[in-house]
Formats: sequence, structure tokens, C-alpha cells
Amino acid sequence: MPEIEGPMIEGPREIEDATLDQMVGAARAIMSSAYVPYSGFHVGAAILNEDGTIRTAVNVENASYPLSVCAERNAAAAMVASGHGKILAVAVATDAKTPTPPCGGCRQVLWEFGDADTPVMAEGANGVRARWRLGELLPHAFGPDDLR
Ligand code: THU
Repeated sequence: MPEIEGPMIEGPREIEDATLDQMVGAARAIMSSAYVPYSGFHVGAAILNEDGTIRTAVNVENASYPLSVCAERNAAAAMVASGHGKILAVAVATDAKTPTPPCGGCRQVLWEFGDADTPVMAEGANGVRARWRLGELLPHAFGPDDLR
């Protein structure tokens, strides 16, 4: 088993370790497809849908830098395009020395389809992993409920 850093995932919604492994593997497998001519920082993301299927995506940069889109947001878009509306878990793979959590903007987008308990796992170089819950990464979030 890869080394795990960060708080353990405990709580009402457990995702099987084998599923998390599968998600991280899928995120790592697609990572090399990232379009990153400017940063050179490859990111792969995987999202677990309610029916047990997994959607993956990579970061896609642009010569107009701010138009670059993170892997997590592209994975959320792929999930929506495939007819799903609920994120059960998120995995992110990079070659960073330490596992990197989703950026602030992505946390907000993930919140749209997840909740405070949604597990987020990251894997960096050498298989080092960290995991959080989305509520830890985005406390006091503004979300769909605030508009009801
Ligand atoms: N990036 C992601 O894809 N996800 C994150 O959560 C952090 C940053 C991308 C954006 C950009 O293409 C590159 O990584 C460097 O910031």
C-alpha cells in the first residue's frame, strides 16, 4: 500500500480503499495527456459518480494563461456531460513532491456537486498520498443551498 498522509477518512460515507486506489490509478493513467506547455505541471483528476463509474480529466492550459482549466474542473464537466450530478469522491494525481489538493477555485466547483463529507485524495510523486474531506478544504462554503 502507498504511504498515506493526512487525516483518515472516517464518517458517514466510506469509499472502499480499492475504489480509491482505482480512482488514483485512473487519475495517474490520464495525467500524461495533460496539455501543459506553460507550466509543465501535469495533473490528472478522477471523480466517482453515484453509479460507481469514474470520470477522468487533465488540466488544459492556454496561451491566454487565465483561460487554463484545472483537471478537477474538467473532470466535473465530464461528469455533468455524462449525465451525472453528484460527486462521491475525488482523486488527484501529480508528480509534485507532496500530494497537492485541488486549488481554491476547484474546491468551489467540487462543492457544487459534492458536500462536506466528500473524500478528496491526492497522490504525488513516489505514490505518497494525502486525503481530506471537502469540508476541510472549503469550510463555510457558499453553495446551492444559499440560493434557495
Ligand atoms: N492545476 C490543476 O489542474 N489542478 C489544481 O488543483 C492545481 C493546479 C493546474 C493548473 C495549471 O495548468 C497547472 O496545474 C499549474 O498551476
